[in-house]
Order: sequence, then structure tokens, then C-alpha cells
Amino acid sequence: MIDKMNEFSTTTKVDKNFLPHNGIKELYFLHENFKNMTGIVSDTIKKERKLNKQLQDMDKRKVEFMSMVSHELKTPIMPILGYVQLLKKEELLGKLNTQQLDAVNEIDLSVTRLQKLVQDVLTAQKIDLEKLTVTNSSINSEEIVNTVYNAFLPVCNIKGIKLEKNIKKSQQITSDPDRINQIFSNLISNAMEFVPNNDACIKIGTYDENDQIIFFVKDNGSGISKDEQKNIFKKFYQIDTISKRKKEGSGLGLAICEGIIKKLGGKISVKSDIGRGTMFYFTLSKEQISLQNF
Ligand SMILES: Nc1ncnc2c1ncn2[C@@H]1O[C@H](COP(=O)(O)OP(=O)(O)O)[C@@H](O)[C@H]1O
Ligand SMILES: [Mg+2]
Repeated sequence: MIDKMNEFSTTTKVDKNFLPHNGIKELYFLHENFKNMTGIVSDTIKKERKLNKQLQDMDKRKVEFMSMVSHELKTPIMPILGYVQLLKKEELLGKLNTQQLDAVNEIDLSVTRLQKLVQDVLTAQKIDLEKLTVTNSSINSEEIVNTVYNAFLPVCNIKGIKLEKNIKKSQQITSDPDRINQIFSNLISNAMEFVPNNDACIKIGTYDENDQIIFFVKDNGSGISKDEQKNIFKKFYQIDTISKRKKEGSGLGLAICEGIIKKLGGKISVKSDIGRGTMFYFTLSKEQISLQNF
């Protein structure tokens, strides 16, 4: 019908005032309006496509710019940290008095934070650009937990936090130990921020469930509400918890954990109750593990 009307309106010169029949006249105007509408819709689609392409280009340029800035920031951090270490060892300017030592320690803390921030931004960008690399080696789940435990025990002791490990299953897996370590480090660092000042406790461990091997970090900290649990894995998302946490963060830690575990073929989840604590756990599939072994 529309084709017929199209044919009619393009091949026939029509004087709208002398259309023979009311019904046909209405149909004709309906068709004309419809044609105009189709034209508008098609123009709008074209404009939107163009805009979309421009936005994609802008996004790409933004990511490239951020990458460049992060790289430029990363380079001068290394010599600063090197000189700070020499100053601390009193090898550069000799013995430091208390005031000088305090100042050097403050520089050390700030530059280390800056280094972590730059590294996090770079890792988050690699995840965005799907350029994150992972390695595959044969490792043991128990060994992973032990390595993380030994790395964090001294700092937990200094801060008066009880660190416990719980290994229910020791499983040989093929995965990337450094990346798993990175996830654990982010989760434990978070837990350390939110545990109470007294009787603080963090438990880390591994167990298996059906076809999955699970690693977890559990704390008795402030907890996260159900609503906020949906948001915390988003990049740069931080709950307004300035009063609850001990140090400022960037809001990238959990987004990075999620990006890494996805790349390793697993999943990360959270269980938490306000005032009672939080448990983050991430999984690797045994099926995938055994497949990778062959
Ligand atoms: N163990 C935890 N207990 C309570 N809140 C947490 C915990 N881990 C993460 N969060 C919340 O999730 C937010 C996002 O965490 P993250 O991505 O690591 O960013 P950051 O630590 O830099 O703020 C944190 O700002 C905090 O509000
Ligand atoms: Mg964090």
C-alpha cells in the first residue's frame, strides 16, 4: 500500500484541493506525513551515528592522553624513591636528626601513595582497553595464601590487626600467581582501612565448592550496605566513609580486582553486613584449571 502511495505521489502531480474522494485525500495526507516522518527519523539516525563516532574518537583520545600522563608521572617517581631510600639509610647526607627523618618518612609515604595511584590508573586503563596481560603457571592455592599471609603479617602486627589464615583445600592450579596476589593485596589493604581500632581481625583463606576453588578475605570492619554493594566495583566509586576509613583511596582497587579476575576466568563477589564486617571472595573454576593443565 505504501509503495503504491509512493508511486502515486512521485509519478503523479496532485492538486491536493481536487482529490476525488475524502477517504483517498486523508490517506494521501497520511502517507505524506509518514514520508516526512521517515525522512526525519532517518536523518536523526544518521546524525546520531556521526555523534557516536565522534564520542568514540574522543573517548579513545581521552584514554590515550591518560595513558601518556600516567607514564610520564611514573618515570620521575623511581629516582625520587631511590633518593628517599638513600636518605633513610643515611647514605646520602649522613646522620639525620628526628625532624629530618620525619620529613623523609613523610616524602616516602606520599611518593609511595602516588606510585600506587599511577600504577592503579595504568592497570585500570589496560583493563578498559582489554590489554591486561596474564601469565599461566602451575601453582598451589595453599602456597598463594601462605605467600600473601607472610607478606601482610608484619604490617598487621604493627597496626595491631590479628591476621588469620584458613586453608580448607590445597589445590594445584594453572593461573597467574602475581595477579592473584594483586587481588589479595587490594582486598586486604581495603580490609585494613575499615577494621575497628580494637579487636581488629582479618581472615584470609581458600576452600573449594563444587567445580570451583574459592579465595576469600574476611574482616570484622564497618560493613557495606546492600545498596552500596552494587556500586563498589565501579571505577572511582567510593562510599562516603571518610570518617570510617583510615586512609584516602582512589576508588580503583575493586574495579581492578574485578577486571583481573574476569581475565583469569573467574568472578568476585561480596557479602557484608553493616557493623558486622565484610567478606570478599573470588573464584577460579576447577574445570578451567584442569583443562589448562593439559
Ligand atoms: N572491606 C571493606 N569494608 C568496608 N568498605 C569497603 C571494604 N572494601 C571496600 N569498601 C568500600 O568500597 C569502596 C571502593 O573500594 P576500592 O575500589 O578499593 O576503592 P578505595 O579503597 O580506593 O576507596 C571503598 O571506598 C569503600 O567505601
Ligand atoms: Mg581500595
